[in-house]
Amino acid sequence: MSAVNPHKKETAASIRVRKVRAGANRIVAITAYDYTFARLIDELVDLVLVGDSLGMVIQGKPNTLSVKIEDMVYHTRAVSEAVTHAHVVADMPFMSYQSGFEDAVRNAGRLMADGGAEAVKLEGGISIAPIVERLVDVGIPVLGHVGLTPQSVNAYGGYKVQGKTEKAQQAILQDALALEDAGAYAVVLEAIPAPLGKQITERLSIPTIGIGAGADCDGQVLVSQDLLGLNPEFQPRFVKAYAQLGQMVRSAVSDYATEVRGGRFPDPEHSFS
Ligand code: KIV
Repeated sequence: MSAVNPHKKETAASIRVRKVRAGANRIVAITAYDYTFARLIDELVDLVLVGDSLGMVIQGKPNTLSVKIEDMVYHTRAVSEAVTHAHVVADMPFMSYQSGFEDAVRNAGRLMADGGAEAVKLEGGISIAPIVERLVDVGIPVLGHVGLTPQSVNAYGGYKVQGKTEKAQQAILQDALALEDAGAYAVVLEAIPAPLGKQITERLSIPTIGIGAGADCDGQVLVSQDLLGLNPEFQPRFVKAYAQLGQMVRSAVSDYATEVRGGRFPDPEHSFS
């Protein structure tokens, strides 16, 4: 049974208090990039993330680095037009905040004022904590993101699980704590060993939202294309496809093509007399 009350509006403040770790009150998050999809899933989830993963799943790029603030504003606006229940968060794209306070405040402001986002997500820990603090100070809720941070793919040399050594695990924990101190209301943990996900979740007073970080986080997030099986060739260990929509789309379009070519569509039922 769903624990979602579709009449309640989720906000940064309501997510902030969902420090649950187990049970039906775990935070359910999913990415969305357009109006039609966002309208379908709004009442089923707590948080909708307009991820810069759109660079890969919408724009077909090999990584998220080329996503522009204009792209994020455009897709965030489309999603926020549809959403009345879930909390809408927009990713700040590569180099829209790392370059300094002024850029960070201006770009986060655009995502909220022009895109309709209710919060922004930034990748990084200790190094961006002062920027998080500034955003929070001016009234912009911030969702943190540590572990595998895809905007640093070139520094990693690929998309690799992070926190494999004791030292690396400590660094990720310190990053998460720095975000909490800076005022983030929750933090995404991506691609880290499950025991580290558990340890960070236990140490933080704000919720953790995992993607490839094990079952002990306070919530989970997945990219919608992966969850729906629209990207069947992309199957990392942490992705579970709950449907095979890729196959369904191909089968439906193939039926349509066959009927058009065979003169069976449109039939009288779908024609004006
Ligand atoms: O860009 C994105 O979709 C994300 C999620 C994978 C957490 O950051």
